[in-house]
Amino acid sequence: MKNDCFKSAFILGGTSTIAKKICIKLAENGCKKFHLVSRETGVNNQLIEKLRIFYKAKVTEERNDLLLNTSLVKKFNPKVDFYDIYLIASGFIGNNNLANSNSEEALKINSVNYAGIIPWLIEIMTEKRIKHKGSLWILSSVASDRGRPSNYHYGASKAALSIFSEGLLLRCVDKPFSVRIIKAGYISTPMTVGAPKFLCTSPTKVASILMKDPYKRGIEYLPWWWNLIMIAVRRLPSFLAARL
Ligand SMILES: NC(=O)c1ccc[n+]([C@@H]2O[C@H](COP(=O)([O-])OP(=O)(O)OC[C@H]3O[C@@H](n4cnc5c(N)ncnc54)[C@H](OP(=O)(O)O)[C@@H]3O)[C@@H](O)[C@H]2O)c1
Repeated sequence: MKNDCFKSAFILGGTSTIAKKICIKLAENGCKKFHLVSRETGVNNQLIEKLRIFYKAKVTEERNDLLLNTSLVKKFNPKVDFYDIYLIASGFIGNNNLANSNSEEALKINSVNYAGIIPWLIEIMTEKRIKHKGSLWILSSVASDRGRPSNYHYGASKAALSIFSEGLLLRCVDKPFSVRIIKAGYISTPMTVGAPKFLCTSPTKVASILMKDPYKRGIEYLPWWWNLIMIAVRRLPSFLAARL
């Protein structure tokens, strides 16, 4: 796989725990160029040094706060070069209880997980780009499958991201460019502190699973057994789903 793997990577959410593990796996498989977009530059030094020194990769950084991307008054027009893989890894779980009564928190969750990403996705998915081989991986969530009382703000924003991305995926069915929507279950990162341990997968394992088939297209549950859990969750009668 090493020779056929991605040589350059664009990562939105370069400081994400999962993205960092994916970057290392990409580097192990021969990726030599990384562009990391995150809210702050200079905070991801451990990863950047490892990529530069150990894997001899070229790394560039760019700042972007997704909350600033949604204004129609001051439009955000990102510029994106050609990369072999584009990974969308930024995300914000937010405070669901607060969001129930505070529209600012609700809009923040939706802007980081969905609306703020749209300008980037539009710039990535040009007709010119999708004529070439390449991949877009989008980290969505099983939370997008049902509006559970405990996290429906996050779930709704990920559902919007999943549907938008599915449109991109279907635009690319007969194109060399592949779109992969990853509906992840619990992964052990700062986002899932307190989640049941037996349902959590490590970010390293997640990165390994994804790298097994780098050009995979479609919608997938990660790990696969979350598909079975979500089949059950989607079928739960409301009186039981209301407790989730
Ligand atoms: N962990 C899970 O169980 C799980 C499950 C399903 C899906 N996912 C998804 O997987 C992706 C990575 O999650 P993770 O677990 O690795 O989480 P993480 O370590 O908390 O990373 C979250 C990322 O989102 C960025 N971000 C947050 N607010 C932002 C903003 N306003 N503007 C720009 N970037 C912002 C963070 O940047 P800063 O460093 O600047 O905060 C960070 O890079 C997310 O999309 C998440 O929704 C995670």
